[in-house]
Parts: sequence; structure tokens; C-alpha cells
Amino acid sequence: MTTYVANWNYPTQVKVGNGRIRELADACRQLGMTAPLLVTDPGLAALPMVPAIVAVCREQGMKLAVFSAIKGNPTGENVEDGVAAYRAGGHDGVIALGGGSALDAGKAIALMVGQDRPLWDFEDVGDNWSRVKEEGVAPVVAVPTTAGTGSEVGRASVITDQANHIKRIIFHPKMLPALVILDPGLTVGLPGKITAATGMDALSHNLEAFCAPGYHPMAEGIALEGIRLIHTYLPRAVRDGSDLEARCQMLVASSMGATAFQRGLGGMHALAHPIGALYDAHHGLLNAILMPYVLKANEEAITPAIERLSRYLGLEHGGFNGFLDWVLTLRAELGIPSSLGEIGIELDRAEQIGAMAAVDPSAGGNPIPFTAEQYEQLCRNAITGTL
Ligand SMILES: [Fe+2]
Repeated sequence: MTTYVANWNYPTQVKVGNGRIRELADACRQLGMTAPLLVTDPGLAALPMVPAIVAVCREQGMKLAVFSAIKGNPTGENVEDGVAAYRAGGHDGVIALGGGSALDAGKAIALMVGQDRPLWDFEDVGDNWSRVKEEGVAPVVAVPTTAGTGSEVGRASVITDQANHIKRIIFHPKMLPALVILDPGLTVGLPGKITAATGMDALSHNLEAFCAPGYHPMAEGIALEGIRLIHTYLPRAVRDGSDLEARCQMLVASSMGATAFQRGLGGMHALAHPIGALYDAHHGLLNAILMPYVLKANEEAITPAIERLSRYLGLEHGGFNGFLDWVLTLRAELGIPSSLGEIGIELDRAEQIGAMAAVDPSAGGNPIPFTAEQYEQLCRNAITGTL
């Protein structure tokens, strides 16, 4: 029998296995922390899990405080408040615990505690990242409680600039958490809907990375296996939330997606970012709805890659259409709506969304460089359900 317990050092130090959250205090100590700030979201902070983790860490000598004043799409103000809490509490590192929002907020707070420039100066444009004072970046232990964003192994945070209604990517290589704990036990309480939406985000990362142009066989290999894990385990994790094997494999597939997308993302994310910023909609859900529309729009460029993928997955009906059918079936099986219109996205903002998508940093990884008009059309199709 396979035991899903391991220590990996790629792409960072990863401790995977059920119950390994018990090693959190040790992990902090290993990074030189004795007084970490635990950054999480308010929903999670209200569940018994967070106080239990805090209590264990305190018993093991950690002087720990919790910061949970963050939004579902964390904002620049949330990061500033977190930095203020970090400084006021005399903290020496960050535990980022939760879904993508908490992980992204925690990583951005750790970046900002030792900088004197404002957050937006580090937006992932050109070589802005080189403005960061590296010695000011606090260490981070990342503990995901959803299997989706893979932010625990990512070198960036997505933060909403509320004044301008736009999501900005804050990037620095040192934002990759030094230590990650992947404990499937922390994800068993996730409702099926969230498991489905976040799992589809993980699929979109692996899939967009797999289809991105450019020479990067290492990322391709990781993405290919990541998609296979999701193909096997996402339906199981949604059907039975307590299936620890499926939960563990989904956490790993999520980390794989974020590792692979150093190669690039694509049209799903280029559209999901502006729609998420304008409507405050769930990122994974948006990707899940957009997936078949973006695949279809890219068909001409990605058919050889998708044929290879279909063979690897052992799909009964192969080729591009067989794969598209699998995505549509999976989406339906997971209870995800088939159009953006069904979640309240309206045509009146399609032009604005198209323009924002064309300049989104993720657009650079799309196999076909779509124009703003093409993104607008794609968005219209996804709103009205025209595949
Ligand atoms: Fe994503």
C-alpha cells in the first residue's frame, strides 16, 4: 500500500502527509521564528481548526498571534493592515494558513514588512522585483487548506488594487515560501462546492502551463502528471470529502500546477483575473466555467498537445474533442455552471473585460496572442453559453 508521507526539497521544502500540521512549530523554529504572525482568513479563523493549531503551537513555545482581517480577494489595504499587525506584535516570520487568499496575503505581508516602497511598486512588470530589499523579506511557512491555487509553492501573490478595480500580481523570487506543509487532514472539512471550484483552478494551472508555448519540458512533465492526478482524484475528493488519499493527491496536484505555471498561464486566467476583480467572483469557479471556451478558442494551436494528453489520461474517446468532452462531463459532474451568465456576469462589461484580459500578465502564456476584441468575443461566448 502506498503511504502518502514524504519530505521533498523541490520546488521548496515540502512536508507531505496526514497529520503533519503537528510539525508546524518545528517548521517555524527551523526558519528561525519564535513569534510568528499566523495569517488566515476570517472564515477559517472562526472554525475550531485554527484555535487548535494555535494552541498546539503555543504549547510548543511559539509566541503566536492571528491576523485574519482579509477579504476573499485580498486587497492592498489588507496587506498594509497585516504589516502593521506584524510590526506592532514584534513578529519574526509568517505562517500563511488557508486558501489562496490567506496564502497570498501572508506572502505579501512577509514581503512588505521590511520594505520602504509601497506595495504596487513591486507589481510584476519588467524588473520591478529587483527593487525589493531582499534582507527585509520575512520567512514564511505555508499551509494550504484548499487544493487549488498552489500559492504555497508560488513566487507571487495576487492582490486587488481596490482604487483601480484591478488585480495586480506582486512578484519576487523570495516570495516562494521556505517551507510548506501539505496535510490532507486540513482539507477534509471543505464543502464539495469549494473542493470542486478550487480543484478546477488546479486543473486550469496544469492545463494552461501544459499548453503554453515555449521550451520548458520540465514544466510540461509536471503539468501532465498533475492533470492525471486531478483526472483520477478530483471526482473522488468531491464525492467523499473524507477520502484522505484523494485529498492528499489533490493537494500535491495543486502544488504541481503552481510549479508548472512558471512556464506561463493563458486565456482562462487572463479572463478570470478581470472578471474576479470587477465582480468579486470566486477565482476557481471562473476558471472552471471559462475552461472549455478557452480550450475551444485555442483548438488550432493546442491540438497536438491535447492529443498527447488524452493518450496519457487513457481517455476512451481521444483527441481534442475527446478531451473537451471529458472537461464538460467533469464540470457537470462537479455541479459547476456551464456559463458565466448563470453566476450573474453580464454582457454590458464584456468590452471592458476583453480589454483588461488582453493586457493581463497571464495573456502572454496563451498559445494564440488574442486581441482585446477576441477576448471580448470569448467572454461573450462564456456569458451566453455559446461553445
Ligand atoms: Fe488560478
